[in-house]
Amino acid sequence: MWRVKPLDAILATAEKKSLHRSLGPFQLTMLGIGAIIGTGIFVLTAEAAQKAGPGMMAAFVIAGFVCAVAALCYAEMAAMVPVSGSAYTYSYAVMGELLAWMVGWALILEYAIAAGAVSVGWSGYVVGLIQNAFHVHIPLTLVRGPLDGGLVNLPAAFIALVVTALLVIGTKESATVNAVLVAVKVTALTLFIVLALPVMHMEQFTPFAPLGFKGISAAAASIFFAYVGFDAVSTAAEETKNPQRNMPIGLIGSLAICTIFYLLVAAGVIGSVGAQPVMGADGQGMRPGSPELSAACQAIGDAKVVCSKEALAWTLRTIGFAKIGNLIGLAAGLALPSVVLMMMYGQTRIFFVMSRDGLLPEGLSKVHPKFHTPHVITMITGVFVALFSAFFPVGVLADVSNSGTLFAFAMVAIAVMVLRRTDPGRARPFRTPAVMVVAPLAAAGCVYLFFSLSKETQILFFGWAAVGLLVYFLYGYRKSNVARGVVETPELSADAPHIHIPPMPGAPAPGEAAERG
Ligand code: ALA
Repeated sequence: MWRVKPLDAILATAEKKSLHRSLGPFQLTMLGIGAIIGTGIFVLTAEAAQKAGPGMMAAFVIAGFVCAVAALCYAEMAAMVPVSGSAYTYSYAVMGELLAWMVGWALILEYAIAAGAVSVGWSGYVVGLIQNAFHVHIPLTLVRGPLDGGLVNLPAAFIALVVTALLVIGTKESATVNAVLVAVKVTALTLFIVLALPVMHMEQFTPFAPLGFKGISAAAASIFFAYVGFDAVSTAAEETKNPQRNMPIGLIGSLAICTIFYLLVAAGVIGSVGAQPVMGADGQGMRPGSPELSAACQAIGDAKVVCSKEALAWTLRTIGFAKIGNLIGLAAGLALPSVVLMMMYGQTRIFFVMSRDGLLPEGLSKVHPKFHTPHVITMITGVFVALFSAFFPVGVLADVSNSGTLFAFAMVAIAVMVLRRTDPGRARPFRTPAVMVVAPLAAAGCVYLFFSLSKETQILFFGWAAVGLLVYFLYGYRKSNVARGVVETPELSADAPHIHIPPMPGAPAPGEAAERG
């Protein structure tokens, strides 16, 4: 179980691919922003406020910092091992099959559950838009999960299934569509900032941390979700011109831009409408996504931003910009499905690589004869994503997704350090600066955020890991290609002509790469 997949075998795949190196810093940054901005800022701002009050500003900074150091580690791995599977593949080469399997298993949480969370976020905005723009009353029963004052979130399940169908027929987002959606999101956030900041009242910032530093940590662990997605940049390592320079610019640049937007948006929400949490009888903040908070919110007529499922649109409507609030809803409605697509695509890719390595049944990586997509995995993933999104609140899903992501990020940080020792001579197109400071900081930051998640989320993660171990020892341990001595051939199959896996949405297709340069 400590067997590794030789790095050279992994790299053989990359060489066969030999994509044209055409991406510059600007395209990489756009790719990152396209994947990053989504439900986190549009929706989870309300959750962060419920956990930390105005202290959520600090939460945004902490989560952004952990992501920045993790991104620097990702950049080294991505430039050195530029093949599919990201954290899973890196771990396989460095830390052995068992840990790689656990990372892959955790990435299921990251991608599939995140897709569910973003679907629920989409639902909140679209329902709010329909209600406010067309004055149609939609019963909560049909648009919220059971923990959130409803029964089933039908719009969320609907969008998850629509995206599944698009992925089955092989839709991929072109660079142009990505650029348009980035423009839509950035315009929406800019509009929000421009309208909300002028009506800011400094007294809304006190008390700054009504629930103490614990509240800020808990909010940071949740709002971490808002930054996830920059790993999409690292998947384009192979197509990057001068990756030593451009990869860190793309990763850190997209994160930095998003952080600035997030801080301004958070300041706008806090300063204009206030962000104090709804407190329970015990003097503690009520848990977001709980039936108690939902009931307390209904009792006050949802008169606080922490009650809103469409925090930014709600804020603008409250400060007198109803029409622009609806426009923000429209922007979220248009742009969030592409984030669902990216996450779900990431999931199918991880499953595909794991099944190709023999750690999951081969049948899962079956490719559709007409559409040339891994339709079996895609449909299984889609059904589960639809179910999660139909029945769970956005914050719960985001937290669970974060637990998996934090584990994977920590593993990548450790892998970078291990590989510096075990394979110092290997060519590294990008080297993490001050790796012995940055990588431990990244790993420690991930551990800190993980243990700032709710106890339920932590237990769920460990339960999921235990199931993963069981599956590994019952299946992968014996069936893995590395165990059976098959190293290279299956690795190449993903790139063989009869199995066509389209590149990451938002990333250029090999043929398209030249046009974009
Ligand atoms: N960062 C992405 C979002 O907030 C996952 O939706």
